[in-house]
Amino acid sequence: MSRLTIYGMGKIGGEVAYLAAVRGLVDEIVIADVVPQFLNAQYLDLIHTGIDVNISTDLSGMGDSDILLFAAGFARTPQIKTRADLLNVNLPVVREFCSRIKNSGFDGTVITVTNPMDALNYFIFRESGLPRGRCLGFGGQLDLARMKIFLKERGLPHEGAWILGEHGEFQVPVFSGIIGGGDGKAFPASLRDEIQAQMRGASMPVIQGKGGTVFGPAYHISNLIDAVIRDRKEVIPCSCVLDGEYGLHDLSICVPARIGRSGVEEIVERPLDDWENGKFADAARHLKELCGKAE
Ligand SMILES: NC(=O)c1ccc[n+]([C@@H]2O[C@H](COP(=O)([O-])OP(=O)(O)OC[C@H]3O[C@@H](n4cnc5c(N)ncnc54)[C@H](O)[C@@H]3O)[C@@H](O)[C@H]2O)c1
Repeated sequence: MSRLTIYGMGKIGGEVAYLAAVRGLVDEIVIADVVPQFLNAQYLDLIHTGIDVNISTDLSGMGDSDILLFAAGFARTPQIKTRADLLNVNLPVVREFCSRIKNSGFDGTVITVTNPMDALNYFIFRESGLPRGRCLGFGGQLDLARMKIFLKERGLPHEGAWILGEHGEFQVPVFSGIIGGGDGKAFPASLRDEIQAQMRGASMPVIQGKGGTVFGPAYHISNLIDAVIRDRKEVIPCSCVLDGEYGLHDLSICVPARIGRSGVEEIVERPLDDWENGKFADAARHLKELCGKAE
């Protein structure tokens, strides 16, 4: 039996629950939210699909979950310009989530979605008592999908593109491994800066137009859940707590991670060129500071 608990059943949590049910990713889905009436509406709407999956609002089953998805708290609005600006409002929410983890005896994998995702993933690692491999942050897959779209729109090769850094202003597109890109030489710094800026701004028109991103993140989160549950051992861009990899400590940052039944099973260190090394160092400096503030 596999169980997914979704903590925070708003736009992202709700869509992931729906996708997990439709795709048959798990046998049981436990859903939780701070607004009881809203939670009940989400519950009823889900069970009315008639899909053969066990849906429950009983959080006492949280400890026996394989995956806890943390999607509770506040999201960006057109007035909140960066994800990092959400740190202080979401700290009380993540603190409460961590005390629930500790009290439940949970020993599976946490996937953090709530922003600022990297810093909150680090906070969960510090506070929950879970090993670092059990704490992973979602965002890299979405950033990478956007990068590939922007390359394709320009008629440029995209296979082998990658992403590192923050899920936020300090995201680092990696061009040096793109097949047919001459080890990155086909991508001058001006083009890289242009694509990086486009990636940074990609979600704001969605937030302005419909109040938040939903389909893109939920689709990729469902793939991440699948990678854990089905032990896929796939290398996926995720925010991971580093302990010496890439020469870094005391932060969570997006790196290539082999994802399987035990969460992060390997962190892959890949070569970077000068532009990428510089941007990655900037991202690490920024995230170290932000993770340090998440106390
Ligand atoms: N990592 C990513 O790629 C990514 C993508 C999209 C959104 N996000 C982030 O995910 C988070 C959720 O986004 P959303 O669009 O679903 O927001 P939303 O406002 O639609 O949903 C948030 C839900 O959390 C619930 N909640 C608030 N405080 C809670 C608490 N203490 N306990 C339990 N539930 C609580 C709210 O009632 C609400 O239903 C935001 O922080 C957003 O910025 C991250």
